[in-house]
Amino acid sequence: MSEQLAQEVTKIKEAAAAVDAALPRADIAVVLGSGLGSLAQNIEDAQTLSYQDIPHFPQPTVIGHSGTMISGRIGSARVYALSGRFHYYEGHDPHTVILPMRVLHQLGCRKVILTNAAGGINPQFAPGDLMVIRDHINLAGYNPLRGEHCEEWGERFPDMSNMYDKDYRALAHHIAAELGMKLQEGVYCGLSGPTFETPAEIRMLSVLGADAVGMSTVPEALAACQMGMRLLAISCVTNLAAGISKHPLSHQEVMETSKMVERNFSALLKEIIVRM
Ligand code: HPA
Repeated sequence: MSEQLAQEVTKIKEAAAAVDAALPRADIAVVLGSGLGSLAQNIEDAQTLSYQDIPHFPQPTVIGHSGTMISGRIGSARVYALSGRFHYYEGHDPHTVILPMRVLHQLGCRKVILTNAAGGINPQFAPGDLMVIRDHINLAGYNPLRGEHCEEWGERFPDMSNMYDKDYRALAHHIAAELGMKLQEGVYCGLSGPTFETPAEIRMLSVLGADAVGMSTVPEALAACQMGMRLLAISCVTNLAAGISKHPLSHQEVMETSKMVERNFSALLKEIIVRM
């Protein structure tokens, strides 16, 4: 093992040890995307740890990402909720973007839900819709698994044919139907950001088969998949994508829509977590 990889592994172990010292262990982790932090309020016996107190975790710089890790119960399920994630566009290197996934794996957590805000490309989608991610297209320009390989993480060449777990997707649809909620499904395209896309790029993504577009999730999903974690990912379509929307895009619109659907989204997540 090179010195660089040994340092990476040490970072993961130090961060995991700090989490373990402060929070009870959990089986399921939920990463809460922009403005989607309210699930945290549904967690019973919640204990909170600031990212400031986790070695090697940077502070999130984006509004709507608070930078706390919570551990507690939803029904009989033990969960970690990560309110705040690290994006490539913030200037973090790819290994920092997936550090929380590595740490969760180190802590024995093997079930993950990733959430995000996304722009809607599919003409059937409306702002406020939730979309289960069936598959993704990685156009972020990098793969976070690049670099020296560590056997403990899994395969060098991970298979990604069922990375968004089929049974979890079916469960999400089943629960949405029970709750009388509309739940779309589609392909998420991950870009690096921080600019929103041009209308020409959105037309291209549409031809390529993308239903929604965003600036996160793909790197974490790749890491989770490599490490054999079972994965569900749900986007909140906060706006119609550039050129489809009649007005200019803004982070404010993203935050406003996610605030609007937060309560429903949380209700769905809560029920899914209990039955995962
Ligand atoms: N594009 C990229 N990322 C996003 C968007 C979008 O339209 N909306 C929310 N996140």
